Amino acid sequence: MNKQHTSTIKQFFDKAAASWDTYNGGETDKLVSLLKAAHFPSHAKVLDVACGTGVMVEPVLTFQPIKLLAMDISPAMIEILESKYSALSCLQAAVQDFYLYDPDEQADVLIVYNAYPHFIDKQRFSAQIIKCLRPGGRFIIAHGSGRQVINSRHDSLDKPCISTPLLSCSEEASRLGSEFVYDVMLETEDYYILSGTTK
Ligand SMILES: C[S@@+](CC[C@H](N)C(=O)[O-])C[C@H]1O[C@@H](n2cnc3c(N)ncnc32)[C@H](O)[C@@H]1O
Repeated sequence: MNKQHTSTIKQFFDKAAASWDTYNGGETDKLVSLLKAAHFPSHAKVLDVACGTGVMVEPVLTFQPIKLLAMDISPAMIEILESKYSALSCLQAAVQDFYLYDPDEQADVLIVYNAYPHFIDKQRFSAQIIKCLRPGGRFIIAHGSGRQVINSRHDSLDKPCISTPLLSCSEEASRLGSEFVYDVMLETEDYYILSGTTK
């Protein structure tokens, strides 16, 4: 992942932010089911990586998090999230490149929703998950559509939005490495969930 990639991705999502909620959101029940299927814990310290405008905030709140840190590389996405959820005391939002994040405290659970293909360098991504989660903490890589839909959506995106094709759960698990215990690999037409814990 080089600086050019980072800046291209940031610019792409900054431009998309204003209309993001017109096309995304309003699926709290579906996302709560997704989180349950991924063994999302209650009363946890949660890290929402590449949070966008906060589509995961309401679903995560149903699990009564102790703390929810939502981060995104796009300032415009974070500005919208903050405008919607400023009254929420458990929520902290940050404009932050996940690759460069150096946590003060480790989280119990880390979620990456509809964003994993934009992390091109899977080795660095995996190393960051380990850095950000406590031992035994859970990561969740999830999509609200099946793999074919995700990949064709990325193929049809205006270039130069940068992404890698989403592989099967077992192939992505091999790419992420053996530092995790993978216990949820679920692919349907409506969901893609790869989840596990750090060793
Ligand atoms: C397809 S959007 C998904 C946003 C949100 N999770 C949702 O489902 O609405 C992908 C997000 O990943 C963010 N992103 C991409 N690379 C990132 C990075 N290195 N660090 C943090 N966020 C990143 C983008 O800014 C964008 O908001």
